[in-house]
Amino acid sequence: MRIKELLNQRFSAAMQAAGIPSECSPILALSGKPQFGDYQANGAMAAAKRLKSNPRELAEKIIQLVELDGVADKLEIAGPGFINIHLSDAFLTACLSENTLHTKGESVHSGDRQTVVVDYSSPNLAKEMHVGHLRSTIIGDAVAQVLEYQGHKVVRQNHMGDWGTQFGMLIAELEQQLSEGEQAELALGDLELFYQQSKKHFDEDPAFADTARAYVVKLQSGDAHCRTLWEKFIQVSVAHNLEIYRQLNVGLSAEHIMPESAYNDDLQNVLDDLMAAGIAVESEGAKVVFLDELADKNGNPSVMIVQKSGGGFLYATSDLAAMRYRVNQLHADRILYFIDARQSLHMKQVFAAARKAGFVSDAVSLEHHPFGTMMGKDGKPFKTRSGGTVKLADLLVEAVERAEQLLRSKNTDLGDDEIKAIARSVGIGAIKYADLSKTRTNDYIFDWDAMLSFDGNTAPYLQYAYTRIRSIFRKAGLDADTFSADICLTAAQEKTLVMKLLQFDDIVDQVAAEGYPHILCNYVYELASAYMTFYEHCPVLKDEVADNIQKSRLQLCKLTSETIAKGLELLGIEVMEKM
Ligand code: ARG
Repeated sequence: MRIKELLNQRFSAAMQAAGIPSECSPILALSGKPQFGDYQANGAMAAAKRLKSNPRELAEKIIQLVELDGVADKLEIAGPGFINIHLSDAFLTACLSENTLHTKGESVHSGDRQTVVVDYSSPNLAKEMHVGHLRSTIIGDAVAQVLEYQGHKVVRQNHMGDWGTQFGMLIAELEQQLSEGEQAELALGDLELFYQQSKKHFDEDPAFADTARAYVVKLQSGDAHCRTLWEKFIQVSVAHNLEIYRQLNVGLSAEHIMPESAYNDDLQNVLDDLMAAGIAVESEGAKVVFLDELADKNGNPSVMIVQKSGGGFLYATSDLAAMRYRVNQLHADRILYFIDARQSLHMKQVFAAARKAGFVSDAVSLEHHPFGTMMGKDGKPFKTRSGGTVKLADLLVEAVERAEQLLRSKNTDLGDDEIKAIARSVGIGAIKYADLSKTRTNDYIFDWDAMLSFDGNTAPYLQYAYTRIRSIFRKAGLDADTFSADICLTAAQEKTLVMKLLQFDDIVDQVAAEGYPHILCNYVYELASAYMTFYEHCPVLKDEVADNIQKSRLQLCKLTSETIAKGLELLGIEVMEKM
């Protein structure tokens, strides 16, 4: 059983025995400082308020009643009634050897398992993927992995934008280029260029613009010719995206694509149901939903258009259809959206409308997990030197190149192929970790030097920490994967490390609940730092170290390397044996 859970049970029982009503919980938390013990039970204050009694006296009573033999050595009251819990060494080492670390798939009880739909990446297919899609893709992927690790059923949904008015223009352009003898694959070889060509055509040639507009309508009403052109375009664009996902090492593949077009046939139904329920109304020829719950400070309701006066449906309409699908077909308990903070109003609107229309019951949690913008070092949105949007494909190539230079400058004895493979893991890992390790709701500054540094809270630092531990085993001629020994604690640094190791699942719980991967990054970094301190103070392979202590320390090394690797794996970052 997890330590926190065990303490919770024991303290709840003691509180009940002390006559405290069961709604009052023990409120357990990790202690911020070692002098306050390992955990704290902070529930006595609230309980005393409830009972109108003295909190310190109540805490005293709880301490007398709580059954913690063999678990804690010492309990003490601090301040107004905090209970500091000092766990016993024997209990901690037993926890580690029971293998309570990395309880893959078992960290939620079967009754608490949920179906969680995670909407992430979701780029528009009209253009090539650019840096704006990076954050959603990697943050969403990390949270999806964390939820899966806990044992939830995760359904990834890549809500790709493949259905807007832009596609009329793009297929008109494709038709023209094909009629000039161009091959589709070649014409679409550079999607960015293709987009610019078609946009130019659209702006400069009125006849072309008319065709483009007609094609949107034709496409959406199922015209076979337009559909064929559109499919060609989409195929190339999707293939490009899948290649980026592969390079980025994220768990998105073709099966997770559920694009806007997939909801086309349901949009009229959505509208009909909204109209029938009186939630959508006609206004100036369009169909709109007025949302009083999102009214501005003057009391004007927020307006969400679901059908334009010309009959076209909108982004919001697809999102409503998607929500219904996720609830009714996918049986979602939670739906998480990893979308730029600039879409916050849109998300609020569709959530409010979906609730109002009864598409999504209160039992289902709808969560927009927003993130800020990626900025350049100049503090402005990240752009190329010439001011254009940075293509993701180019960014990833640069990351790997920079990592390779860095590795070569470290002058290692690695072979050429090894360097290339490691450079990929380090370069991609650095980009991902730099993003994941920042509080996602803030804007963040993209900085090559900082993310590729071997010092501080970076992917290369953690990857290197892992390889150093693995090299200890190589030096000792031992196989880390099969090695196993009992742990005996002889130094404070060992205990600190053990406490950190045992927190892994609590951290994962927090990330799963709140959707902030930086919490896991900070944890892995703190774990690596606790390990470094341990390693400085506690020799492992030196001759003077007694055999049982050496084995115990090797076991700590092993558990640390496994936990670093597991944490990084959940974040979508690879580790390697050497670097
Ligand atoms: N395609 C949209 C964009 O690039 C993001 C879609 C996010 N998901 C959603 N269900 N709205 O801005």
